[in-house]
Amino acid sequence: MSPTESRIRVFIVEDETIVAHDLVRMLESLGYEPAGTAVSGEQALSQIALRRPDIVLMDIALQGERDGIETADEIRRRHHLPVIFLTALGDAPTLQRAKLTEPFGYLFKPFEQREIHASIEMALYKHAMEESLRESEAKLRDSEARQRDSGVMLQNLARHLQDAGEKERSRLAHELHDELGQTLTAMKMDVAWILSKLPADQSALRARAVDLAKLADHTLKAVRRLSQEMRPGVLDDLGLPAALEWQATEFSERTGIPCRVKTSIEEGRLTKNQDTALFRIVQEGLTNASRHSQATAIDIILEEADGAVILRIADNGRGIRDDEARGGRSLGLLGMHERAAAAGGRTSIKGTPGRGTTITVTIPLPGAEAAP
Ligand SMILES: Nc1ncnc2c1ncn2[C@@H]1O[C@H](COP(=O)(O)OP(=O)(O)OP(=O)(O)O)[C@@H](O)[C@H]1O
Ligand SMILES: [Mg+2]
Repeated sequence: MSPTESRIRVFIVEDETIVAHDLVRMLESLGYEPAGTAVSGEQALSQIALRRPDIVLMDIALQGERDGIETADEIRRRHHLPVIFLTALGDAPTLQRAKLTEPFGYLFKPFEQREIHASIEMALYKHAMEESLRESEAKLRDSEARQRDSGVMLQNLARHLQDAGEKERSRLAHELHDELGQTLTAMKMDVAWILSKLPADQSALRARAVDLAKLADHTLKAVRRLSQEMRPGVLDDLGLPAALEWQATEFSERTGIPCRVKTSIEEGRLTKNQDTALFRIVQEGLTNASRHSQATAIDIILEEADGAVILRIADNGRGIRDDEARGGRSLGLLGMHERAAAAGGRTSIKGTPGRGTTITVTIPLPGAEAAP
């Protein structure tokens, strides 16, 4: 062995000086480095803390208060070091006690050099494996914790984005409605004024002015619809039931699918954010029904039961499949779950093949324990 190569350091705990001496010689001839000797458990513990060996050979009958088994247990707890017992004792109670300290070997005196050699090598290898397993487990626990943390962060981020998006839509809706709406109204009035001043024989000019008035009117309606869709004024002014009625009528006119609304909740049972969450869930539910379900009728039911507000969106279409309902890549259903969770509630989505899909959102009311 070259002088720079570090040798395995072996600590000996043995109360008989002659045996300890023999062991030191044996270790040296095997190429190990004797890292110190102790005659009692107490001495062993203080020396091992100082000398930091790689492995410990331990007699069981020792001087002092602690025997070798207690000492080995303490070494395992404090330093995670492998211990091999070297003893004349082989009775069942001793073996039972020794076993509990999870020793890396148990050799009877008198021992042979090759037994010592083999036992040390096996013990070191097994110990290294156990350490690397312990490290991997720690890393795994660590990465699991990080994954949990980042899941929570993502959820917070999603909520924040939804919140920010809602505020931005509201701002844009007002801007559209006020700025564009007023300008277009002014244009309409100006065109009407021009029309009133145009002589009857200017038919080409009059026709243009009439077209212009129609165009302004059409654009004004489009702006109103857009701003309503972005943030329905009714939701803020008249509350959720009225906003749902408006949404259903608008949806039926646009798609031709009849949509009925039945609400039986009192005004103001939910916060503004909860109202907004339910309204957006209905918007996505209706969009999905028109895009994916081939339904010919949709029912929206909003009611209070068992201390919770319950919203149901039921279509009579093809019925969502379980794998679709579990979601994955698309954002619509995920957004529903997120919005319901942010509002303190939960969503369930169920489909029956050929009979339709029902989305149920349950939002427990404050102070009431919702039924499970
Ligand atoms: N009412 C429904 N009836 C039948 N299938 C549905 C219904 N609603 C959703 N699905 C199915 O579930 C899938 C997931 O819906 P989700 O709203 O998450 O996504 P998407 O509508 O496809 O896309 P987007 O992210 O734009 O909403 C849909 O692609 C569709 O296959
Ligand atoms: Mg969708």
